[in-house]
Amino acid sequence: MSGFWNDRRVLVTGGGGFLGGAVLRHLEALVPSSVVAPSSAEVDLRRADAVESMFTDVAPDLVIHLAARVGGIGANMARPSGLYLDNLLMGTFVLDAALRHGTATTVMLGTICSYPKHTPVPFSETSLWHGYPEETNAPYGVAKLAQLTQLQANRDEHGQSAIYLLPTNLYGPGDKFHPSVSHVIPALIKKCVDAVESGANHIDVWGTGSASREFLYVDDAAKGVLLAAEHYDGRDPVNLGTDEEMPIKDLVGIICELVGFDGEVRWDTSKPDGQPRRRVDTSRAREEFGFEAEVPFRDGLQRTIAWYRANRTEAEARAS
Ligand SMILES: NC(=O)c1ccc[n+]([C@@H]2O[C@H](COP(=O)([O-])OP(=O)(O)OC[C@H]3O[C@@H](n4cnc5c(N)ncnc54)[C@H](OP(=O)(O)O)[C@@H]3O)[C@@H](O)[C@H]2O)c1
Repeated sequence: MSGFWNDRRVLVTGGGGFLGGAVLRHLEALVPSSVVAPSSAEVDLRRADAVESMFTDVAPDLVIHLAARVGGIGANMARPSGLYLDNLLMGTFVLDAALRHGTATTVMLGTICSYPKHTPVPFSETSLWHGYPEETNAPYGVAKLAQLTQLQANRDEHGQSAIYLLPTNLYGPGDKFHPSVSHVIPALIKKCVDAVESGANHIDVWGTGSASREFLYVDDAAKGVLLAAEHYDGRDPVNLGTDEEMPIKDLVGIICELVGFDGEVRWDTSKPDGQPRRRVDTSRAREEFGFEAEVPFRDGLQRTIAWYRANRTEAEARAS
């Protein structure tokens, strides 16, 4: 345990979410002076006055801003306007309030969806501004990337200590499994489990299977966020990933095997693949704050499937 945490008043936004739940669990073990994690019903971060009151009431000296509107390709295509504006407003108001209230440290969460559609692999943080993101998730990605500019401008002009982390696609227990918001891993797990239960002889999967993704277990991501909060105070954004690239076709095969579905996989090529390839360069996180992902992918998947099977109502409750 580190002395850094003992006198910290920590404010976590989005603490009721997927990554937020893992961050709160790991934070508890670090025994900060206090932790406050309001829900969206308690504080709507899209309202500047609500954000202002929250900072006045909590007076945090560490803010971890995880709140966001997040979803898979389907949610991004169905609600691009809402995802753009809500994410832009929340991040903008939180960063601005942290600056005006003199918050000692602010951690902002970016996303791999901000990278240009055709980024050389592995994605280096220096490539972030080299092109427009893949179209299906561009409004979300652009809104989140605006906060990198905001925090760098604040740091340059006012010396604000705010850092920016870019996790790759997350997965794990606590993820959202409702089809209106789920990402690829929970969507595939649900399809396979449903098919096994109903005795269906096939599943339909979006796209061609040729795209690739990199997946980070949610507890590894939470540890990365907390390590960065304690040890990193730089202007440059930092990727959080595993260095492992997984073709979607292979992913489908592994999930079918782990769930025990041995029917046919039908590729719905009328649906988009999303960004063609994703794998991030993880060297900056390793060098700056010693982050290394630990959970092997198959282990993480098995834990996720087991959690889903044991918590289906909760897993499918959070919709758009
Ligand atoms: N999931 C991924 O694969 C992934 C990958 C890269 C980066 N990220 C980033 O990681 C962060 C956490 O993502 P996640 O997957 O944990 O998201 P999530 O499970 O959807 O959780 C989002 C959280 O944001 C809160 N929120 C939404 N709208 C709000 C509002 N208007 N006011 C206050 N709070 C609001 C929600 O609060 P309530 O539950 O109280 O409504 C919820 O706790 C986000 O910044 C996301 O961009 C996620």
